[in-house]
Amino acid sequence: MQQSLCRISGNPLIPLIDFGDQPLGNGFLNSTDFEREYFYNMSVGYCQESYMFQLIDQPSPQQMFHANYAFYSSTSKSMEKHFKAFSDSLKDSKYLSTVDPFVIELGCNDGIMLKNFVSSGIRHLGIEPSLNVAKAANSLGVKTISEFFTEECANRIVNEHGQADAFLAANVMCHIPDINDVVRGIKILLKPTGVVMFEDPYLGDVIEKNSYDQIYDEHVYLFSALSIQNLFKDYGLELINVIPQKTHGGSLRYVLAHKGAYTVDSSVDEIISKELRQGLDKAETFEMFKKRVQKSKSDLINLLTTLKGQGKRIVGYAATSKSTTILNYCGIGPDLIEYISDTTPIKHGTFSPGMHIPVRPYEFFKSNPPDYAVLFAWNHAEEIMAKEQEFIASGGKWITHVPEVKVH
Ligand code: TYD
Repeated sequence: MQQSLCRISGNPLIPLIDFGDQPLGNGFLNSTDFEREYFYNMSVGYCQESYMFQLIDQPSPQQMFHANYAFYSSTSKSMEKHFKAFSDSLKDSKYLSTVDPFVIELGCNDGIMLKNFVSSGIRHLGIEPSLNVAKAANSLGVKTISEFFTEECANRIVNEHGQADAFLAANVMCHIPDINDVVRGIKILLKPTGVVMFEDPYLGDVIEKNSYDQIYDEHVYLFSALSIQNLFKDYGLELINVIPQKTHGGSLRYVLAHKGAYTVDSSVDEIISKELRQGLDKAETFEMFKKRVQKSKSDLINLLTTLKGQGKRIVGYAATSKSTTILNYCGIGPDLIEYISDTTPIKHGTFSPGMHIPVRPYEFFKSNPPDYAVLFAWNHAEEIMAKEQEFIASGGKWITHVPEVKVH
């Protein structure tokens, strides 16, 4: 059944784009599971009151973040660097108490961020619902509990460990349908001088870059400063700073605190004004986005079909969750894309969700370079293009689809 009410305000959502039936973005599967693959209707809506851009319907979190969750954060070197810098910025800030600071991370994955606190001897706790990645974090010495974060969980943590100086999350908050419960939990967990720092793919970048592949089952929301400011203010928490990030093709880091605890940085007013100029407060802006998404789809299908007609070999580079939206929305399967190369061992030998393109180890790509590689991890373009000089030197070409479909 479709949910058509805003998860924040409870008002009816304005329906925006219907991407049709989609499988789980990270649902890489074996051929024996094709028959019982799970699909849901993926469409997005907007709420004029909460400013929240969101999925209308979403599979249950248990379906997505389970004991065999296939995403390990530490597979990317640039993300390792990014989380080191994120951790350093907190350690160097005025926000951590001088005596026994306590840092919590929601969705700590395999410990990519918190391990930087372990190495400094800072008291920490990770909360990670996917058991396999939580185990990986614990094995690094990152203290992690495997469960979903709720108001009830926050009360338990406070009783056991006390309140936190910082509550961190990266690419996690936008995954949580009942975000109101999480914000209630944060309110309980934070010391009077504590801060929330979290980052997620930014709606402003998605609209600007036409990166509609950020829309998939796990991203129940695409946040803006407008929507985050509005969400937290109902709980007495204030947006005090915003810091744009290059990660995930454009993210925004939000810093929030109990109202009045800190002065509000000028970056907050600046980004709100920018979002109003960009029209992120108006449903019409998303109507224009829809037209650009439709054009991107026909451009990509036309390009791949033409190249294939010329006998060219095309593969996908990186079996990302994002690629699932593109492949299923455009109906691109193994007839156009031979295989997808990926460095994550548990994805090897599996097939892409929905369209069932085989996923092969990166070494296979190295020994079988194609004529064209569609860069599904376009957000890591700098890192990838720098390491794939040999592919280019041997005549290979990149295809990207953001901000427009293009051969490089
Ligand atoms: P990411 O853009 O973080 O994925 P998602 O859309 O799922 O958030 O990319 C992670 C995936 O890309 C992961 O399966 C590993 C793969 N990958 C490569 O295969 N090679 C690379 O050089 C990089 C950076 C990622």
